[in-house]
Amino acid sequence: MESITFALSKGRIAEAFLKAFDAEEALNSRKLIVQVGNIKMIMVKPVDVPTYVANGVADIGVVGRDVILESGESFYELLEFPFSKCTLSIAGFDQNINLEAPMTIATKYPKICKQYFPLSKTIYLNGSVELAPILNLSDVIFDIVETGTTLKENGLSVIKDVLSINPVLIANKSSYKFNQAQIDAVINQLNERGDL
Ligand code: PRP
Repeated sequence: MESITFALSKGRIAEAFLKAFDAEEALNSRKLIVQVGNIKMIMVKPVDVPTYVANGVADIGVVGRDVILESGESFYELLEFPFSKCTLSIAGFDQNINLEAPMTIATKYPKICKQYFPLSKTIYLNGSVELAPILNLSDVIFDIVETGTTLKENGLSVIKDVLSINPVLIANKSSYKFNQAQIDAVINQLNERGDL
């Protein structure tokens, strides 16, 4: 059987998939390519998963819906996973802030943010977004909340949950057409794993 290239988002998602495929030993290494049977897993930054898949370098990939919505790339969405659930939320200090009024929002997700808050000014940051309202760069942030620990430890709290986010399995359009049997075999393997 031909090999399938599977782009995994480094971090929580890659961890879950390497465990599901009994390849935990890769977690302790800096290897960027891990071969498991006929699946070549490549470890990439979440934001790059759509690029690898849309360009056909990876046949399939798994990445959060936040990254998918922010990416302008074209691919198929095959499956959404219930694990590693989080939300895209507005957070800040002032629970009474009028979210319908124009405000300044710091975010890693300017495109999604503009869709939900068209009147607001968005300030793009690449990380540590929680600093923005603390240092008066923005009124609020629009960011991923998983455990809530980062917000709590920085004195911020959720003002509004906007979107529920899960990992999504995506496929290159022509790969899916020509390698559907192999891709479906990977999906079956994933479906058999209760922990995903
Ligand atoms: C993400 C997100 C929050 C944090 C939320 O950041 O942007 O900062 O995780 O998780 P929590 O609710 O469990 O605390 P990430 O860890 O990707 O780092 P970053 O700040 O460099 O983007």
